[in-house]
Amino acid sequence: TPPVRYEAENAVISSGAVATNHLNYSGAGFVDTANAAGAYLEWTVNAPTAGTYNATLRYANGTAADRPMDITVDGSAVSSGRSFPATADWDTWANSTLPLSLGAGTHTIRTTATTANGAPNLDHLDLG
Ligand code: GCU
Repeated sequence: TPPVRYEAENAVISSGAVATNHLNYSGAGFVDTANAAGAYLEWTVNAPTAGTYNATLRYANGTAADRPMDITVDGSAVSSGRSFPATADWDTWANSTLPLSLGAGTHTIRTTATTANGAPNLDHLDLG
């Protein structure tokens, strides 16, 4: 079955805004988190059956510096300080994929900026 797409603009945004001022996003826009450590998005996703899924985060980082994030599932760390390196510019998006072992049902995936620069711009999360 194809991955299910969760748009960033539908996630819970701790601090930041939905924006449309750069190109090539999916859906109605993307999320520009505050430039602050601890800024997060919380995505609510569904796993139809228990198993290993690929979670693909689409992001843009038009700066020279990495924008690392901690990734948690239901509050447990699955990737700490995960690298979201520079993309060519803010209109250019890249995918970062990590495997997640999920039980059947609803889960919360939180992506939290670890540096004062905040998160990269986030477009969507594909789970499949
Ligand atoms: C620029 C850019 C934003 C981005 C921000 C940042 O302002 O236009 O889309 O979110 O830089 O540094 O995070």
